Amino acid sequence: MAIKQHIPQPICRSLQVPELGKFSFAIQYRGVRRDAILVRFKGLVYGYLNQCVHMPRPLDCENSNIFDETGRYLQCSMHTICYDPVTGESLSEICAGKKLTALQVREEEEWVYLVDKRAVMDACV
Ligand code: FES
Repeated sequence: MAIKQHIPQPICRSLQVPELGKFSFAIQYRGVRRDAILVRFKGLVYGYLNQCVHMPRPLDCENSNIFDETGRYLQCSMHTICYDPVTGESLSEICAGKKLTALQVREEEEWVYLVDKRAVMDACV
């Protein structure tokens, strides 16, 4: 039986994910269309499904900022839950310990790729 190889799928150019910024895109995640985001924190890019752990709302549903005013945490704009940008873990009392769903992404030669076997690219949003 042949082993199915996962091919990296380009999401965007690296410069489209600025420090403390985001890039929104859509994927098919386990066969369901979902919104996703890339964020850059301390120079590294992280990918997450764009859905808060508190309620099924996008993190940027109320405003376009994805980081809090300190630049140290991701923050949902609905009820201001803060997340560790590296692990996606909620650091707020509400939903403490719950995590955003992380996506496997890789940055290489000025591109960011989706390398998550559970997901395929859908479209930019
Ligand atoms: S929906 Fe995100 S904090 Fe409530």
